[in-house]
Amino acid sequence: MHLHKYEKIWLTFGFAALIIFLSVVGVSAFHQGHTPAGGLQKVDPDNLESTPPFDKPGVHEKEDGSYEVAVVAEAFGYTPGEIQVPAGEKVTFKVTSKDVTHSFSIVDTNVNMMVVPGQVNEKTHVFRDPGKYLIVCNEYCGSGHHFMSMEIEVVD
Ligand code: CUA
Repeated sequence: MHLHKYEKIWLTFGFAALIIFLSVVGVSAFHQGHTPAGGLQKVDPDNLESTPPFDKPGVHEKEDGSYEVAVVAEAFGYTPGEIQVPAGEKVTFKVTSKDVTHSFSIVDTNVNMMVVPGQVNEKTHVFRDPGKYLIVCNEYCGSGHHFMSMEIEVVD
């Protein structure tokens, strides 16, 4: 088969455009640590009430002085709905979902996790400045999606 010179150019252009498009989609989907929880700890979403640390959602101080925060997401909110952590300390958020995929995104930080039922996703963050931080759901999860949020109070 004989390809016209311009056809070759357009084929090359089309292929290059496809590669660029896929790269952009890939990079924007996974930048800022917004990664699907792959190969992480698994949990039974129907049994969170008896699965540590989700049996006691909230803030737990660990022996080394850092903090662990267990959060359960479900349509359309988080448990607990409000938490308090100290500024300047390592805070590890462990989140999972009871129902569908949500996200746990702390506004103005690089904490932006997907929350997938059956999986535990975690991220450690140090809040430098005291104040109130808003957590929102960035994954469309249903009619109440836009109202799905919670608040963290960072204290001195
Ligand atoms: Cu939960 Cu959107």
